[in-house]
Amino acid sequence: MTNERLLELAFEARERAYTPYSNWKVGAALLCKDGTVFLGCNIENSGFSSTVCAERTAIFKAISEGYYDFEKIAVVGGDETEGSKGYCTPCGVCRQVMSEFCDPDTFEVICGKTVDDYKVFTLRQMIPECNFIAASDGYGFKV
Ligand code: THU
Repeated sequence: MTNERLLELAFEARERAYTPYSNWKVGAALLCKDGTVFLGCNIENSGFSSTVCAERTAIFKAISEGYYDFEKIAVVGGDETEGSKGYCTPCGVCRQVMSEFCDPDTFEVICGKTVDDYKVFTLRQMIPECNFIAASDGYGFKV
């Protein structure tokens, strides 16, 4: 799947962001190696620490459905009152979660302003020196 199509899906997911506290709406589209896509949006909470980011929503949806071989993720977001002006890059917690499940040298993070204006990073660039747990190689929970 092209980066552009994955970004389109991330923008669709962003429509469902629940952001009464920040108005900062984020969408993510996670592509599995078999072609399956999981979408995620950020979901906020009056207890701020209970908020979950779009990226983790998508990743946790995938893991909970038994998918754990991931190719790339598209992330889009911004202040809804001003439109999406910048590239929304994943927070540190999401980078850590990605490092649990994604090969840092091959997994790509596509940060889009629009469907055709985006930057691509490897996970290694996003979180250097991380420990890759390799869930798909049988660590921990593989059935
Ligand atoms: N957020 C995400 O969903 N993903 C990111 O990459 C950055 C931050 C959310 C969390 C919170 O709901 C809002 O954006 C403002 O930080």
